[in-house]
Order: sequence, then C-alpha cells, then structure tokens
Amino acid sequence: MIDRLKRKFAARFGREPEVVSFAPGRVNIIGEHTDYNGGLVLPAAIERGTYILMARRDDDRIRIYSENLQEEDEWMAGEYPRRENFGDYLRGGLLYSGAPPRGLEVMVFSDLPLGGGLSSSASLEVSFALAVNEVFSLGKRRLNLVEIAHRAESEFVGVRCGLMDQFASALSRADHLLLLNTRTLEYQFVPFPRNLVLALVDTGIRRELTSSPYNRRREECFRALEGLKRAFPWVETLSDADEEMLFAARDYIDETAFKRAVHVISENQRVLALVEFLQAGDLCMVEKVMSLAHWSLSQEFEVSLPEIDELVERISSLPYVYGARLTGAGFGGYVIALLLKGKEDELRKALPSSEIIFSRPAEAARVLYSSVEPSEG
Ligand code: GLA
Repeated sequence: MIDRLKRKFAARFGREPEVVSFAPGRVNIIGEHTDYNGGLVLPAAIERGTYILMARRDDDRIRIYSENLQEEDEWMAGEYPRRENFGDYLRGGLLYSGAPPRGLEVMVFSDLPLGGGLSSSASLEVSFALAVNEVFSLGKRRLNLVEIAHRAESEFVGVRCGLMDQFASALSRADHLLLLNTRTLEYQFVPFPRNLVLALVDTGIRRELTSSPYNRRREECFRALEGLKRAFPWVETLSDADEEMLFAARDYIDETAFKRAVHVISENQRVLALVEFLQAGDLCMVEKVMSLAHWSLSQEFEVSLPEIDELVERISSLPYVYGARLTGAGFGGYVIALLLKGKEDELRKALPSSEIIFSRPAEAARVLYSSVEPSEG
C-alpha cells in the first residue's frame, strides 16, 4: 500500500514524499454523546484509516491532493482561507500546530468510507497533524496532536464535536478498548475479548455531521446543564450529576433537554457496567448493556431512525452476536456488533444487503516512513 501511494505521489508532484503517516478511524463501543458532557467513552481504533504523504517545498505554495475525491486545492503558506472543502481540515491543522509558513506537497488517501460515522475526518486531522509534526520536527506529544486535530474540526471546520474521535485515533492500543474520561482526560486500556471481532454494519444512511442536528443536541445538553446548575451550582458538566440530582432539578429543565440529560447520565453508568462485564467475561450482560444503550440513544437522545432500530434488533437477535447498537453521532452511519470470531460469513449471509467491515481493535496513529532528520526542523 505505502509503495503504491508513494509512486502516485511521485507521479503527481515529481518527487518523493519525505513523510508517510497513517491514522486509524474509530468505532465507539459505548458512551455516546457523553464526550462533550464530561462523560465516559469506550472507543477502539479500527484497521482502516487515512494516509498522508508529505514533502516540503522550497517556496510558500501549499498544494494538496485527495486521491479519494480526485480533488486538489492550493494556497499560500501562512494564509488560512476557509473554502468548505477537504482542505479546511488541513488548514485548520496547520494553523493550530503553529507550523512554519513553508510550502508543502500533500497527498491524502483514506480506505475509510468518507463521512460515514467511522471518523474519517478525525483520522484525516490526526494523520495530518502527525505528518506536520514529523516534517517540521515540532516535537509535539500525542495529547498535543489530539488538541490540534480537535481544534481543526471544532474551531476551523465548525463541527463542535467532543474529543473522543481524535483521542481514539491518536492513542488507541491494538486488541484493547480505550476507556476515556473526557473531563479529566484520564484513560486506561481494557482488553478486548480474543474470541470477538468488531462488526461494523453500514446502515446505508448518510448524514453530514455539519448539517445534522449534532450541534442542536449539544445545545439541548447545555440547556439541561444550565437548569441543573440552578439547583446545584457546583455542577460543571452533566456528568457531575446522578439521576437523583437530575430529578431534583426537573422543574428547571424543559422536557427535551431533560430526556437528553437522562441519556447522558445513564450512559456513563452503562460504560462502567460494560467494562466490568467485559472484564468478568460475562458476554450475556455485555449484550444487555449494549441493548439498553441503543434504546436510550434512540428513545431519550433521539438520534436513531425506525429503520436503524429495526436493523439493530435484527442483528441483536443473531445467536453469535453479543450486543449491537447504533454507534457514533447517529442519524445513520454504522451499527456496531460484537461478533463471535469465525462467524463473519454467517453475518454476511444474514445481512445480504448490508456492507460490513470487520476489525479487531487496532493500533493508534503512526509515522510509517520518514526521511526527515530530527535536527532539520
Ligand atoms: C461524533 C463526534 C464525537 C461524539 C460522537 C457521539 O462522532 O465527533 O465527538 O460526540 O459523535 O458520541
């Protein structure tokens, strides 16, 4: 793969790349819409992601090319025009990484479905931040790269997402799930059962995160928080509250916001429960918690659709599946199922019209190739 991409880079730009980086997409096992509410999430990196090939130029032109979109863009280093195309993710990355205003050739290739809910954008941002860090020897740490990638998405592109996707792409560990507290940024790795694989079933429904009600859900959560604060002024995020507190503050919170908060607060508990049951090897209970999580996402947070609920039910009823639920922002994208290893073909046969990606929890972002001397800066 790398050699094929390097040849394409050379054919387009007439030179070799100095850096090749890769950052994975992610799937969230549980902990949905909690990451902008100071809550818990449990994602894993998957085996697919985004490659960035990069070389410095001697002038201040920046030229980028997306192999997937067959689209190019160009601008002057030190300028950060917003053009509502894929280049915005990269301009945001350059702006927040404080890279020197120097020209670059960049090629992007992703083997993720774009805009499908597997964090193609976070993997692009993280891969790019990593490549910039390497090519300019910026010496940034992983958490810094997460922050740069996250700001590119939330401040530059304008999707006010939480930290989960960028964090998962930059810090995951193979064969493990990443349990992250989005408030303290403390994290730990939870071994993923050897006898399971992650099955990602495409709902076939696509939503544009920027135009989806994602930001509206965020506002509803914020409204619930404001109400909660009137009763408990010390509360800083919805995740500081338990159900009892939420009910005590009920009069200050409108009905919609209240439902959103019920989801967030109960979801945090389900994350902990799922981790406990995974560690105890109790897959029956894992399955139950996954179902409850889907139900809450669908009924309280209202980001599912009837046809997705139906698909989740169909998948959950299969004897070799240990839990299924809608994953990611919602309104389409993917259903995640915990599948018994070896049953991949059976799942395909049971869902003949669905695209399915199978993956074990995969390694985090990494530099695959670099000819940059550390001192070159
Ligand atoms: C999207 C966002 C994440 C997270 C999920 C919902 O994937 O990018 O930050 O909020 O939705 O859990």
